[in-house]
Amino acid sequence: MGNKAQQAAAELDWRGAVPVSRRFGDPYFSLEGGLAETRHVFLDGNGLPERFRDGFHIVELGFGSGLNLVAALRLWRSSGQAGRLRYTGFEAFPMTAEQMARALATFPELAVDAAPILAARRAGTWWIETPGLAAEIVPGDARVTLPAWKGRADAWFLDGFAPARNPELWGADILSEVFAVVRAPGYGRKRHMTRGRLERA
Ligand SMILES: C[S@@+](CC[C@H](N)C(=O)[O-])C[C@H]1O[C@@H](n2cnc3c(N)ncnc32)[C@H](O)[C@@H]1O
Repeated sequence: MGNKAQQAAAELDWRGAVPVSRRFGDPYFSLEGGLAETRHVFLDGNGLPERFRDGFHIVELGFGSGLNLVAALRLWRSSGQAGRLRYTGFEAFPMTAEQMARALATFPELAVDAAPILAARRAGTWWIETPGLAAEIVPGDARVTLPAWKGRADAWFLDGFAPARNPELWGADILSEVFAVVRAPGYGRKRHMTRGRLERA
């Protein structure tokens, strides 16, 4: 199922190779090392690749440039995991394909994995199928679209800018859709990150 995003566009400034949101006044990923941040916060933070299994479903609040998705796909492929990774990303202000390509060009080691994701975006679809991956981007404000979403996550990537810059995406209502959260050491200049675990009865 493809869907066309009719959303307010991302408005960007560039600090070197890093996109910075004019709307939120915050960079999309660490100025000190976006890929290292992704690995520390989202991949290690979720116990990946150890927890991967066929059909493992990552859900992200704030798809942005797609860096976290592409890094997760790289890890999935390099870990030799069989089957397919599933990914659902929520995004209110989508980047254009060219903005995504410019942001991801910083990480040449991800180029092969990024290519089908950029191709889908260029084709105007948010449904991406490529070997090892079935991904969907849900356009719109996650405060509206997440409560209506019927899926179930094995891992959450909460990446909606710093809470001080975008408190809407860190409110009790939206986090109650996710799980109980704890604070853990962050990456680079960020003292903390939020880590959560769904405790099943
Ligand atoms: C830090 S960036 C995400 C970076 C991204 N994960 C990546 O790998 O490039 C935060 C993202 O959250 C999105 N966002 C902000 N508020 C939102 C909302 N209410 N609903 C959905 N997305 C939102 C922004 O448009 C932006 O793309």
